[in-house]
Amino acid sequence: MPNAKQGEPDIGLDFLDMKLNNPFILASGILGETADLLLSAFKAGAGAVVTKSIGLEPRDGHRNPTIYSTPDGMMNAMGLPNPGIEDFKREMDVLRKTDAVVIGSVFASKPNGFSILAKKMQDYGAAAVELNLSCPHARGYGTEIGSTPASVRRIVKSVAGSVSIPVLAKLTPNTSDICSLGLAAQEAGAKAVVAINTVKAMRIDPLIKRPVLANRYGGLSGSAVKPIGIRCVYELFEVLTIPIIGVGGIATGLDAVEYIMAGATALQIGTAVQTRGVKVFSYLQDELKEFMRKENYGHLSEMRGIVHEP
Ligand SMILES: Cc1cc2nc3c(=O)[nH]c(=O)nc-3n(C[C@H](O)[C@H](O)[C@H](O)COP(=O)(O)O)c2cc1C
Repeated sequence: MPNAKQGEPDIGLDFLDMKLNNPFILASGILGETADLLLSAFKAGAGAVVTKSIGLEPRDGHRNPTIYSTPDGMMNAMGLPNPGIEDFKREMDVLRKTDAVVIGSVFASKPNGFSILAKKMQDYGAAAVELNLSCPHARGYGTEIGSTPASVRRIVKSVAGSVSIPVLAKLTPNTSDICSLGLAAQEAGAKAVVAINTVKAMRIDPLIKRPVLANRYGGLSGSAVKPIGIRCVYELFEVLTIPIIGVGGIATGLDAVEYIMAGATALQIGTAVQTRGVKVFSYLQDELKEFMRKENYGHLSEMRGIVHEP
């Protein structure tokens, strides 16, 4: 393991059978679902990319407006638009010819649906599968089926028994007890948890006297949710033995350090890709390394979880 005093800080990760050059992963849904866009993030320096959440059938998603910018973040109610798993094979065929590390995100309403989708993602060449148990604005999916430990356990168990690639459970912050969801995922065979998805939220336009999103409510992301994400990662680190992927409002190297000190092993970047562009992936690496150099850290693991009581 390189020492900061002797050379560059080491920010590479050997993680769930994946070798990542750095801990920064493109979060699901941020750059749409085409192979070209996912590759643009990988080429810009992302350690890995997560696909848009893909379902069994094509889906249009919600009516516009589906996006609303807030002073320190954004709200979206996309409603899980996607081409369906059969069509998505075309994008995965392009991606598997590259050296991009691709994590396939899937959503369904029942355990069997998740298992079918996960097997397809595995067949299409995904390095891991991420289960969307946490979208807050699509009826019958996401948070609606990912808010109880029993349901999380059923879904993760079904998928873990169907695939050999690592299973990641993406958890909702819209709960009073994220630890019981994380523990259920871990017991059922998840190899990591991802925290957090967006926070259920609403804004109203006083002049037109209506909610700003056609779906009425949506999910808040960006720096506004960073303290919530950090708190969730901190709580999960106290009870889990599997790794935690931190996500929510990470836009700078120091944001990443906060998540790592709370207990995150890897990080996903969403809204900041829209505000800083795909170049954010190289800025984040530079900023993280600069912090590690100044503070004399040689490796990410030296910072992980250090704010917890011994
Ligand atoms: C426009 C948009 C679309 C998203 N689509 C998905 C999705 O398909 N699946 C999913 O699991 N999360 C989705 N998310 C949530 C992000 O992956 C991420 O968990 C969340 O935005 C918090 O991270 P951030 O603050 O860095 O954006 C979406 C977020 C946004 C803003």
